[in-house]
Amino acid sequence: MCLAAGMRISKSFPAIFYISFIALYFSLYTITPIFSNSLQDNFIKCLEKNTYVDFPLEKTFFSPKRNASIFKEVLESTIQNQRLLTKSLPKPICIFKPVHESHVQASIICSNKLGIHLRVRSGGHDFEGLSYVSQMETSFVLLDFSKLRQIKVDIEDNSAWVQAGATLGELYYRIAEKSNRHGFPAGLCSTVGVGGYITGGGYGPLMRKYGLAADNVLDAKIVDANGKLLDRIAMGEDLFWAIRGGGGASFGVILAWKIKLAPVPETLTVFTVIKTLEQDANFKTLSKWQRIAHKLVEELFIRVTISPIGNGENKTVMTMYRGLFLGGKGTLMKVMNKGFLELGLTRKDCTEMSWIESTVYNADFPANTPIEVLIQAISPFEKLSFKSKSDFVKEPIPVSGLKGIFKRMMQEDSLASFLAWTPYGGMMAKFSESEIPFPHRRGTLFKIFYNTNTEKRPSKHINWLRDLYSFMTPYVSSNPRQSYVNYRDLDLGKNKNNSKANFKKAQIWGTKYFKDNFDRLVKIKLKVDPHNVFRHEQSIPTLPTTM
Ligand SMILES: Cc1cc2nc3c(=O)[nH]c(=O)nc-3n(C[C@H](O)[C@H](O)[C@H](O)COP(=O)(O)OP(=O)(O)OC[C@H]3O[C@@H](n4cnc5c(N)ncnc54)[C@H](O)[C@@H]3O)c2cc1C
Ligand SMILES: *[C@@H]1O[C@H](CO)[C@@H](O)[C@H](O)[C@H]1NC(C)=O
Ligand SMILES: *[C@@H]1O[C@H](CO)[C@@H](O)[C@H](O)[C@H]1NC(C)=O
Ligand SMILES: *[C@@H]1O[C@H](CO)[C@@H](O)[C@H](O)[C@H]1NC(C)=O
Repeated sequence: MCLAAGMRISKSFPAIFYISFIALYFSLYTITPIFSNSLQDNFIKCLEKNTYVDFPLEKTFFSPKRNASIFKEVLESTIQNQRLLTKSLPKPICIFKPVHESHVQASIICSNKLGIHLRVRSGGHDFEGLSYVSQMETSFVLLDFSKLRQIKVDIEDNSAWVQAGATLGELYYRIAEKSNRHGFPAGLCSTVGVGGYITGGGYGPLMRKYGLAADNVLDAKIVDANGKLLDRIAMGEDLFWAIRGGGGASFGVILAWKIKLAPVPETLTVFTVIKTLEQDANFKTLSKWQRIAHKLVEELFIRVTISPIGNGENKTVMTMYRGLFLGGKGTLMKVMNKGFLELGLTRKDCTEMSWIESTVYNADFPANTPIEVLIQAISPFEKLSFKSKSDFVKEPIPVSGLKGIFKRMMQEDSLASFLAWTPYGGMMAKFSESEIPFPHRRGTLFKIFYNTNTEKRPSKHINWLRDLYSFMTPYVSSNPRQSYVNYRDLDLGKNKNNSKANFKKAQIWGTKYFKDNFDRLVKIKLKVDPHNVFRHEQSIPTLPTTM
């Protein structure tokens, strides 16, 4: 289950949309300011002066005019959310793909010198497109990490160094190449970039056993606002704390993470059980899941997706339970019979496989897809256009609330409108709220991910989503109503300028993502990036000078 409730999306993008979209796209570039060419030249010249590796920079530099035939392809290569590809959002004046770490340092130095804003992209999965479009900067350069994706796995040391441009799938594959007893607790979708993912915490099916990806980081290499390359010792513990969950692109550019590997058994078990609205008429199963999913053994992770399915008289709501167990079928059946009999899991529903095979299963590829798909940057879905939101639940939602959710599901026509509920507890509750900036810990039963497809009639679907979110208010965390920073949601607010009013607003959305950790993030921001070099619509703000 990546982004479509486990359903394979195969509708092709309507041709008429596509044509008008290309037309809009090119008209955008015909109005790109004339000065951008010389700005690019100055940027390249400056890069040449500031790098010490012998590499022809123009080979890795893409301009919409000079490289017109490939620019669009490069820009859109890793973009996940088509919703952000509208004409109204400014796109980069050029794209630079550093091939050496010193290129990243030079980019920061030159962007400071020439006053050019930079956006950094690793996997391109940002929900609001903050890595490649901007709502606050009209002119910026895109630093794309797709050529910095080296992975060095050291089984003896139980660790790996991973460059920011690698995907989660590549990381999984490279670990499994060396050992079938090692893994890493990270996300469901194989195409997500390591660079952005870990900066926001990073959850996945091993989280109840090992915590977040960010809980398992040992060291990092980062380029700061002055272009200096720092490791953990050089950056100090404050900055090292901030980058493990404080959100991407606020404190510096991550070059690489050193991660701690996690032990996995040779055999894991996965399962999928579906219940329609009629099959769980009194919400017995879903109510029980809410009460026990966070309390089950840490080796067991059962997430739930809820989505409309079928048409007309056959329309219903499907609740899908997808489980991953670190162990064999037999043990799993014992655990389920004791703790969650209501689901009615049978041995027939269960499939045993290796950890690496389970990552392919979790990413929603069809059964028996070769694991090589993990290193091919392939997604099981066509590119989607979507809007998402998140919530955290602290008390089971009563039947009256569940009825309201299912009623709203029945009103939606799109299969790609769904909720995904992710159980917490286990290791997630053992870290304190301030261990890293990610604060959603003890007392959280589960997280809700809301998604709707915005390909057709976007405002109708977005309104549906916002209405559901509003309906959920009494059933989810409050004061603050918490949100997951890796599920960027600009409905919560966005930076506009450096005023006191902006800062006050940022405190509101910032507290949703980070609770009390927001204050410490602001202090660290002031120390490491007082001039706000690393800024975007939801970057940690600097305090206005008037305060
Ligand atoms: C299909 C899909 C599946 C997902 N599944 C999961 C999941 O299972 N678990 C989970 O926790 N999240 C998941 N997410 C959310 C994902 O973790 C975030 O979108 C994450 O920020 C993506 O990282 P990225 O490098 O791919 O994205 P990008 O768009 O490249 O970057 C995201 C943000 O980080 C910044 N950034 C990127 N690279 C760097 C860098 N090197 N240094 C500093 N800042 C940087 C960007 O500027 C941007 O602000 C999913 C998202 C999608 C679209
Ligand atoms: C972009 O175009 C310029 C000028 O034609 C060329 O020198 C450069 O190699 C091109 N860049 C890439 C990455 O192809
Ligand atoms: C509902 O399902 C039945 C049985 O599968 C089928 O014959 C019928 O055409 C379906 N109705 C609609 C509106 O899809
Ligand atoms: C700055 O942003 C704030 C908050 O969004 C807004 O209220 C204010 O009018 C803006 N001020 C200026 C000078 O643009």
